[in-house]
Amino acid sequence: MDKILVHGGQSLSGSVRVSGSKNSALPILAACLLTKEPCIIRQVPDLSDVHYMLQILSHLGAEVERASGTVTVRAENIKSVAPYEIVRKMRASVCVLGPLLGREKEATVSLPGGCVIGDRPIDLHLRGFEALGAAVRVECGNVKVFAAKLKGETINLRGKFGSTVLGTDNIMMAAALAEGVTIIEGAAAEPEVVDLANFLNAMGAKIEGAGTRRIVIEGVAELHGAEHSVIPDRIEAGTFMVAAAIAGTRVTLRRVVPDHLKAVSEALIQAGYGIETSRDTLTVVGNGKPKPLELLTEPYPSFPTDMQAQMCALLSEGEGISVITESIFPQRFMHVSELKRMGAQITLEGASAVIKGVERLSGAPVMASDLRASAALVLAGLRASGVTEVNRVYHIDRGYESIDDKLNGLGAQIERVKV
Ligand code: EPZ
Repeated sequence: MDKILVHGGQSLSGSVRVSGSKNSALPILAACLLTKEPCIIRQVPDLSDVHYMLQILSHLGAEVERASGTVTVRAENIKSVAPYEIVRKMRASVCVLGPLLGREKEATVSLPGGCVIGDRPIDLHLRGFEALGAAVRVECGNVKVFAAKLKGETINLRGKFGSTVLGTDNIMMAAALAEGVTIIEGAAAEPEVVDLANFLNAMGAKIEGAGTRRIVIEGVAELHGAEHSVIPDRIEAGTFMVAAAIAGTRVTLRRVVPDHLKAVSEALIQAGYGIETSRDTLTVVGNGKPKPLELLTEPYPSFPTDMQAQMCALLSEGEGISVITESIFPQRFMHVSELKRMGAQITLEGASAVIKGVERLSGAPVMASDLRASAALVLAGLRASGVTEVNRVYHIDRGYESIDDKLNGLGAQIERVKV
């Protein structure tokens, strides 16, 4: 297990290229199961989560080839059972349920466990499958869905915590091959859902309304192969934006969609930083410590839960009192105890973190716990005095392509140590 040593006090400047989106690539790779014909997916990031998804596709019988950022999937003859030993490594494996049900009319996938950011139920996914006419069985830690045929239906996917991203993806993929029209009310509107819908339409699906809360899918008899380039990763981009705010003078992100980063940009502007954009770049102009903020995480296009930990790191060294409230994953505060080891003054009140800015954090050995919490600890180390040692770096490698190399390219001083 590697660890990362962050030597604090370096200032960041220059530019960095953003990789393809993890949360877009995963469902799009799963969607390749919907056709026997080859699919070519470009700008696929080199991440362990992507590696796990390719392992699952191979286990299901698909032929998978990877040449740097381009993946070719040929799912001519496939099985419909994704076993525990692979699925347990990545919760997002649940997004193979929809394409398997759509194409094979049955699927068995090990139930995703919970994870450190909180309970990860799939009741909304299963509600959607049942509405399409599938039977659902949960037994021995597996969920099995099967149907003689799938029939379009109007389905409301709103849950207690808002819409479901992968649930919307799963129902879109199953409904693409159902008979008749499916309408998803309360759909997730994230850019990654739109990217998947665009790929499905390139395969011959008939999907309208992706990016809004109401998606209409007219089922077709079959789908054909297609080529697609994955959108840039808005959360990786947001993470580098916060790094620039913490330690930057002026940092430019290349290959981004500024429109996908409006909520993060607005938060940083409110905290006193400059944001300049062009068609596919975004520049953050540093300005020392942040002004205090009150933030609430909500479904897109509001402030994303996947950026909450990173903002905690930024606001820990600031003025006044900030409050960040989680409306999506109320327990997603594993990073708080580690930031407090670095001297942050944060108290948890229900689903809110109340942050009293301090003059400066101090480097310390800290433990990564989940993907975004780990990135937040690296960010905190950028300006902290001394060295911050982030252990269990495999959490970061799940969702960030060479984050240490990219930050070092901007002037950080980060070492990766094999342990
Ligand atoms: C996706 O997870 C992302 N992962 C997550 O990013 C992201 O945090 C999340 O959406 C919210 O934006 C991928 O896209 C691979 P949800 P997903 O279903 O789809 C509840 C990262 O760091 N819910 O939108 O699994 C759920 O418990 C990861 O890259 C139900 O109650 O999340 C949560 O409170 C972490 N029943 C809320 O809805 C369900 O059936 C949103 O979950 C499904 C979800």
